[in-house]
Amino acid sequence: MDFLVVGAGVAGLRAAVGLAGQGDVLVVTKESLGESNTHYAQGGIAVAAEDGEDVSLHLEDTVRAGDGLVYRPAAEALVSEGPLRVAELIEWGTNFDLATDSEGRRLNGQFLRTREGAHSLARILHANGDATGAEISRALLAHARGQKCIRFAEWTQVTRLLTEGGRVVGAELECAGGTGAQEPPRSVRARAVLLASGGAGQVYAETTNPAVATGDGIALAREAGAELADMEFYQFHPTALALAGAPRFLLSEALRGEGAYLRNERGERFMERYHPLLELAPRDVVARAIAREGMASQDRTSGEAKNANPGTRPVYLDMRHIRNVDLHRRFPGISAFLARYGLDLACDLVPVRPAAHYLMGGIRTDLAGRASLAGLYAAGEAACTGVHGANRLASNSLLEGLVFGARAAQAILADGLPLVRVRAERLQAAKPLRPAEEQRVEDAIAGLRSAMWAHAGVLREESGLRAGMAVQAECEAALAQLAGQPRSGRRWTEARALSRVAGAILQSALARRESRGAHFRSDHPRRDDENFQKHSELGRDGRVQFEKW
Ligand code: SIN
Repeated sequence: MDFLVVGAGVAGLRAAVGLAGQGDVLVVTKESLGESNTHYAQGGIAVAAEDGEDVSLHLEDTVRAGDGLVYRPAAEALVSEGPLRVAELIEWGTNFDLATDSEGRRLNGQFLRTREGAHSLARILHANGDATGAEISRALLAHARGQKCIRFAEWTQVTRLLTEGGRVVGAELECAGGTGAQEPPRSVRARAVLLASGGAGQVYAETTNPAVATGDGIALAREAGAELADMEFYQFHPTALALAGAPRFLLSEALRGEGAYLRNERGERFMERYHPLLELAPRDVVARAIAREGMASQDRTSGEAKNANPGTRPVYLDMRHIRNVDLHRRFPGISAFLARYGLDLACDLVPVRPAAHYLMGGIRTDLAGRASLAGLYAAGEAACTGVHGANRLASNSLLEGLVFGARAAQAILADGLPLVRVRAERLQAAKPLRPAEEQRVEDAIAGLRSAMWAHAGVLREESGLRAGMAVQAECEAALAQLAGQPRSGRRWTEARALSRVAGAILQSALARRESRGAHFRSDHPRRDDENFQKHSELGRDGRVQFEKW
């Protein structure tokens, strides 16, 4: 085969479309097509409004939100190529919501645009109210399915990247469960491998991400010897539902874009104490403010100790004052989800708390998706171009997937690497875990996720990060005990990935002894440009270094 694309979210699909016609493309995904972070994106896709001036405003907003660490050429590529990539999406059948007059008549095909945190104006397109990711996925997938040379392998995971002479030349694949055909493990060769496998929210006990987000691609790249960057920067979405017994369902920032207030337990609109943009401050600022307010109410009621990423009490989203928007029509998915728990956006206070949402770091790439190993490319959340710096601007992620997915495809074609024959290698028969072993793996993962939330969450400090390292080492040891013979199975692969990604986050967070964007160290609460206005790089030798890009 010519090109192997790992992941079927927006970055993987856009890259596959760019490669189609130039060779065979195999897109593998470990669940069914459509199950990705992309699918669950609610708020929308940020893209400069039609007037040319907004490209530079979008750039400035992106750079400002990134807290001094955005790699400007990456952000320039994002905002200047974004409008073209979104126009393609529309041509391929994506239906963004259209503006209507008071009688519901369409206004010359104009799109509705909303505003989210740290945007200087309303530029975010959305679809079906709050189901933007699902609509983009649907249209992109339909377009990709129409290309003859793209094949899809669902319920398939990559267990190892194959390298030869320092170049990635293929991958080992195995069945990842599900209802599909139980194919035996196999190795495939490809001229290029693109990792577009998304983020790793599952490394935290509290996350808005679906179960598939276990950082598999990042761990594969690291195992093969590729460099990672900025792994300490995990974005915590300020407003995930905080209701006992309910999942940490995302409550889109677009709710605040339409005017929602945040109130603490005493009913105060507390954001005025934290930022002049109030509820539309950058995400990192809002997440920390919520954590602090939650901790304050916890102290008042229980006298429990501070530093409580895990136990902070919720604050509340309040939309009861909003009269000019039909909230149930504007947010149908959120309204339906809340109704299951007896809550109504228009008349109830909705309890929220931050949860892990988006990894700004990842596999270090150049602006064309090239990783540090020849033959290996990455795009979207799995990659780190420096485009988000220390804190991603709201709704820039779908745009990132489109722009850098397209760029990666162009680079793969331009590089024109030949197919390399690897030594014919029989895949060793791998053993699935027995039930008792599976339980040990689940226990190790659960311990790791809790430790990550407690110690590498919204608020961090050295002693906690070291405690997190100790738990990660225990998790590695538990997995090593089971790795005496080759193992197979989805949870096995995911556990190894989660452990490695957690290690990289902890190590990078310990090394960055300052606070910036999403990385807040209570023991180093100030931004330190002199020493740390640099990107962290986790190299082959396992050391973290800081470099200016
Ligand atoms: C949201 O709708 O708040 C999430 C969008 C994003 O992560 O940018």
